Amino acid sequence: MSLVYSAQRLARELGPWRSTDSAGTAYRALADRIRLLLLDGRLPSGTRLPAERELASTLSVSRTTVAGAYATLRAGGYLTSVRGSGSVLSLQCTTTPTRADTAAGLTEDAGPAHEAQRWDLTQSAPPAYAGLAAAYRQALEVLPGYMPEAGLDLGGLPALREAVARHFEERGVPTAPDQVMITLGAQHGLRLVAQHIHLPGGRVLLEQPTYPHAIDTFRSLKARLIAAPVDVHGTDVEAVVGLLRAHRPPLAYLMPDFQNPTGSSLDDEDRARIALAARSAGTVVIADETTAMLDLDRGPRTPLAAHGENVVTIGSLSKTAWGGVRVGWIRGRRDLLESIRLQRRSIDLGTPILEQLTATVLLHDERTMVDARLTQLRAQRDAMLTGLAARFPGWTLPPAPGGLSLWVGLGDLSSSALTLAARAEGITLVPGPRFGLDGAFERFIRVPAVVPVPEIEPVLTALAAAVRRVEEGSPARRRSAASALAPVV
Ligand SMILES: Cc1ncc(COP(=O)(O)O)c(C=O)c1O
Repeated sequence: MSLVYSAQRLARELGPWRSTDSAGTAYRALADRIRLLLLDGRLPSGTRLPAERELASTLSVSRTTVAGAYATLRAGGYLTSVRGSGSVLSLQCTTTPTRADTAAGLTEDAGPAHEAQRWDLTQSAPPAYAGLAAAYRQALEVLPGYMPEAGLDLGGLPALREAVARHFEERGVPTAPDQVMITLGAQHGLRLVAQHIHLPGGRVLLEQPTYPHAIDTFRSLKARLIAAPVDVHGTDVEAVVGLLRAHRPPLAYLMPDFQNPTGSSLDDEDRARIALAARSAGTVVIADETTAMLDLDRGPRTPLAAHGENVVTIGSLSKTAWGGVRVGWIRGRRDLLESIRLQRRSIDLGTPILEQLTATVLLHDERTMVDARLTQLRAQRDAMLTGLAARFPGWTLPPAPGGLSLWVGLGDLSSSALTLAARAEGITLVPGPRFGLDGAFERFIRVPAVVPVPEIEPVLTALAAAVRRVEEGSPARRRSAASALAPVV
């Protein structure tokens, strides 16, 4: 069944679409904008677009402009006319085989789509920690000891909960193992906490820009989103406190350490202020610590959880060990975890035992793992910032004291146009507006600091070609949509 978009709703999603005009014609600018929204997931495949006349009148353009845009999308294979259903957006997406799939014989032919996309910069996610395979081997040795049991545990293995509790204790937050629930990564933890708090129609306070899948989670729970600004220098704490006081939202979602995508952090004083204001407002604060351990050169801060019982922390091993481990946690009050555990049964029945054992091994020597990651990330961040500064002197580069994202100001360049042009040069990027609520951040792009140092020059050469494409107004050719439905992390 198609999702139906009214002209008003589509106009809201489009935002300032004329600025993406790459060839000086309105119909092409409109087509480009719709295509971009489809590619980055803001318009789901299967969306039914409004009738030409209706959209033309809402956008105050001629019907020929809308007809031209729809025809362009049709010619590119992004729009199909379905009898009785009008014009439906479609992304004929094939899952791109990974290099490992190909090596393992899991796919016969990676095909041209695979070659077209040479650098996937949609994910701020590093490859696996060098010690991961050894940790899995160690875990395999003890796994048989768990096999006489059913292997289903909604809370998590006691040994792992103890290890996670230690992870908090060492950072100054007294934590008992029964204040920890093991999850399938931080995104799962976010979902479990958010859906536990009754959100339909309720407000959620977040920073803007923010982590796109958090926006998706809250929207899918029908929350009304209110946002406080954050930039590469920090969060507008006055705005956070003011919004908490004015709206008393049931939930707030913050990234106190190395916010994704800006890389900024809250200082200790602001943490205390926010926790206090949230407590007075009756707000539960989700502190997302997915990137908290990636302190490249900032120095330690006290976790938000130290400032109050109304803070629920989510975290994971995705950035320090590997996203493929899929182990994360929730730390919070016992009664909250108990009711989340009851709800969780409708979603999943626990985290795989082998992965939990592996996580336990990894957390046993967390410092070694984190130090290895920091050494790698520092080199990549420094090389990427140096390369960007040399190639694009008009862009504004962030201080990036930690985390995995570089939130880069593009000057006059449109992020959406650059994203489309970059596809034609083999780079997939996430445009700035994907991190905002209402089409904001068109002059920003997130560059993940996860590109291996030897690849940075080729990536920047391709990016420079994409910038030239935008400046010269040459339309981007269609390239693989294969990564378009991949997560933005
Ligand atoms: C801020 C933030 N939260 C949550 C996640 C999801 O993490 P996980 O892979 O542990 O589900 C990510 C992943 O990039 C992230 O950046």
